[in-house]
Amino acid sequence: MSETSERPVLVAEPQSGEPDEPNPYLLGLYAPTDTEIDADALEVIGEIPRDLNGVYLRNGPNPRFQPQGRYHWFDGDGMVHAVHLENGKARYRNRWVRTKAFLADSEAGRSLWTGVMESPKGNPFGNHHGLGLKDAANTDLVFHRGRVLATWYMCGDPYALDPLSLETLGAEDFLGTLTGDMMAHPKVDERTGEMFWFDYGPRPPYLRFGVVGADGAVASVTDVPLPGPRLPHDMAITEKYAVLMDLPLLPDAEAARRGRHKIVFDRSMPARFGVLPRYGTGDQVRWFEADSCYIYHVVNAWDEGDEVVMDVCRVNRPQPRADAHTPLAKMLSYLRLDAQLHRYRFNLRTGACTESALDDANTEFPSIDARMLGRKSRYAYNVHISPESTLLFDGIVRYDNLTQAKAEWSFGPGRWGSEAPFAPRDSAVAEDDGYLVTFVQDEREGRSELDIFDAADIEAGPVARVLLPARVPLGFHAAWVRADQLDGTRR
Ligand SMILES: [Fe+2]
Repeated sequence: MSETSERPVLVAEPQSGEPDEPNPYLLGLYAPTDTEIDADALEVIGEIPRDLNGVYLRNGPNPRFQPQGRYHWFDGDGMVHAVHLENGKARYRNRWVRTKAFLADSEAGRSLWTGVMESPKGNPFGNHHGLGLKDAANTDLVFHRGRVLATWYMCGDPYALDPLSLETLGAEDFLGTLTGDMMAHPKVDERTGEMFWFDYGPRPPYLRFGVVGADGAVASVTDVPLPGPRLPHDMAITEKYAVLMDLPLLPDAEAARRGRHKIVFDRSMPARFGVLPRYGTGDQVRWFEADSCYIYHVVNAWDEGDEVVMDVCRVNRPQPRADAHTPLAKMLSYLRLDAQLHRYRFNLRTGACTESALDDANTEFPSIDARMLGRKSRYAYNVHISPESTLLFDGIVRYDNLTQAKAEWSFGPGRWGSEAPFAPRDSAVAEDDGYLVTFVQDEREGRSELDIFDAADIEAGPVARVLLPARVPLGFHAAWVRADQLDGTRR
C-alpha cells in the first residue's frame, strides 16, 4: 500500500449544525478521510469471478478542510473511490476530484466556500449560472468517450477523470462547445455514443436540454421554458425521445431574494413531464400532468406503441417533517429519502398520462444494465433505504419487470451499502448476465469492503468480498466501467 505525498493541510473535523448539535454527516460512517491511497493484492473472502473485469467507481462528498459555517452533506469536495478488478485480482484507489474550487481551497489552505445552509455571499465563484455555491463534482460518475465525468447535483462543470488513475483531466467542455452547466445525471446511449443532458438555473428559460454527439461536440441545445425556477435532478431517454421534468420542488423566492438557498415543495402543483424528440426543440415539448410528487432518479424509459413508458423512484412527500425546525433537523429530514418504484405512461397520440405504483418498498439509487438505457429493460437493481435517521442503504432489491418477482438481500446488522451498479460478465449479451457490485461499510468492524453478487441470484449473498485497506465513507452515486470500455483509455 502506498500513500500519495499530497496530504491535506487540515482535515474537516466534526462540526455542529447548531451550536450544540453534532452533525452526523461529518461523523462515523460519513466522516471524511484525509488520505489518498493506492493498494493492491487485497484480501478476498470468496473468489473474484474471472469473468468480471472492469472498475467500480463511487463518488461522494469528502470535505478536505474544516467547513465554513454549517455543513450540509451535499457540500463536501468530491472524492472518487475505485476498485479495479482484473483477472481475479483487485486494486483500490481513492482521489479527490481536483475541481477549480478544490484547487483554490488547497492554495489558500482552508475552505473558501460556505455551503447550501449558509449565505453564499463572499464565496469566490460558483457555476456558470452565477449560483455562488462550490461546484464540488461530488454527485455522480458517467463514462463517456474514454473518460469518467464527475458531476454535481446543482449543475456545474463535468470534470473529466481517467477511470483507472483517477487523475483529474480538467473541466470538460466538449471540444469547446459546452456553454453553461451540466446536471448530475447525463444519459449516455452506448449504441450511438451520444450523451443527453440538461442545465437549469434561476433565470428564464430556467431549463435547457442538450445532446453531445458521438464526435464529442455539443450537437444540439434548446431552451425549454418553465413557469419558474425548479430543481430537476434526473431525466430519461428512449430510442426516440427525451423526457424532462417540471416538479413542484422550488427554490423559495423570498429566501433567494435574501441570497439564501431554501427549497419548498408545493403540493398544490402537479408534476409535469415534458416529452420531446431526442434532437427536438423547446417548442416541440409535449407536457403531461400527473399527481404532485418529487423524483430524484429515473430507472429507465422506453417507447411502446404510442406511449413512452418511464419507471422512476417516486417521492410522495419530499418536504421535511413538521417537527423539523432547526436547519440541521431539516437537512436530516430532507435526506431521509422515502421513494417507491412507480411507472408513468405518456400517450403521445391521445395526450393521456397514467401512473401506477409498482412496489411499496422504500428503494432508490436504481441501476439497470447500462446497455439497455432507453430500451425496454426487464430488470432493475435498487438499494433499500433503512429507516435510520440518516441516509443508509441496508440492502439490495432486484426487480423483475416481466414476472413482477422481487429478490432481496440485506447487508446485515451494522453493514451499509452504496449504489450497486450492474456489471456484465465478460462478453455477456443477455440482460442480467453478470454481477452487482457495491461498497459495504461494516460499522462494527470499522472496515469497508467491495461485495460482488451474482445479479441473477442476489439472495445467495456475495460471491466475493474484497477487503479494503481503508474505510470508505458513505457517499452518492457509483458506476461500473467494463474492461472493453477501459481498453480504449489506456495510455
Ligand atoms: Fe442523484
